[in-house]
Amino acid sequence: MVHYNQHGVDYPVTKGMEKGEFMVTKPAAKVEHIIPNKPKMNLIGLCPDPEDLINQQPRICLQKLKPLAYKSILSSDLFDAEMLYEVSKVAAYLQLKRITPVNVLSDKILATAFFEPSTRTRLSFESSMLHLGGKTLSVAEAASTGVAKGEKLLDIGQMFNSYADVVVIRHTQQKAIQELSEYLRIPMINGGNGSDEHPTQALADWYTLLKWKPTLAIDTPSQNQLHLGIVGTPGNMRTVKSFLIMALLFKKDIERITIVSEMADPLGVEVQSFCDSSPIPIYISNDLQTVVSDLDVIYMNSIAFLGDGYRMLGSRFKLNKDTKFKKDAVILHPLARKDELDVSLDHTPHNLYFNQADGAVFIRQALLLSIFDRLEQIFPDTLIA
Ligand code: CP
Repeated sequence: MVHYNQHGVDYPVTKGMEKGEFMVTKPAAKVEHIIPNKPKMNLIGLCPDPEDLINQQPRICLQKLKPLAYKSILSSDLFDAEMLYEVSKVAAYLQLKRITPVNVLSDKILATAFFEPSTRTRLSFESSMLHLGGKTLSVAEAASTGVAKGEKLLDIGQMFNSYADVVVIRHTQQKAIQELSEYLRIPMINGGNGSDEHPTQALADWYTLLKWKPTLAIDTPSQNQLHLGIVGTPGNMRTVKSFLIMALLFKKDIERITIVSEMADPLGVEVQSFCDSSPIPIYISNDLQTVVSDLDVIYMNSIAFLGDGYRMLGSRFKLNKDTKFKKDAVILHPLARKDELDVSLDHTPHNLYFNQADGAVFIRQALLLSIFDRLEQIFPDTLIA
């Protein structure tokens, strides 16, 4: 077997079918041959290199991801910092095409059942599954199911047991996910349940930030702690809630978090209890413009879910290219956006939001591989810690 060394790790060049099908791309001697293996260059905005994340600790500690095997992913608090770091490294290898999983999930079917609209979550999960050789079934809207005829969600849930191996569900009702979990015998991934949670969006968010600042998950205290700004109400906005819960894992890297919201109590009881158990100080502001020049990361979202519907945040919370950002500040937004995030920012280095959406396909591949416990089949021994 031929090996080459890069970043202190030996990679097999080819390994046929010895341990399942996989192929590791051999880096070329010439730089121009490496370029196609880099993340897509057609993105605008900031594109941190996944290689920087891998370089910190190239070997994957698969044991840290074992707790995800055949597990439902309902909330962000399922993840600890090590798990998040390892799953992000898997995503980085996939994004760099150092590991090309060929048909590793060819015996699996992913159902996406979206009872509420989606662009990114449904499509990126389906894209992820297709990249892994798996198959997909899709419910794009409630009206195309028996719900339109009055069928109960629980009966639809029984069908997922028969027709699929994993299901991603989005629903307007917070309680729908918990209720379904009592009937499902296959893993369920929460693709957003009303105002409650969107844990795989938080994975995509933190994968992006780990590429941007790869030292975030390393145990040594950070020299430059971050001031994180969250524009929105974690108490009733699922993406900011899931993002905040994961942010609390980064105790040594985050100096403080400022929640910018028009609401007097943007946290609510549940999120407050998460914050109370963390040493990271949380501040509340109702004026984005007075705090923005001090923020290193700005996470924004405009859509608040209220019952079955949603509403947009107040128009005071807007960013555009003339906003007085810190020089190296980055903006994350799960999208879809309205006018809170002006397109004039798209071509600036503050734009990390397109990279965030782009990376979602790779982190969701890494998650699916972890859920189906197939990582050993695609990672050569030389990359396993
Ligand atoms: N980020 C996100 O949840 O986007 P969609 O609503 O398009 O799935």
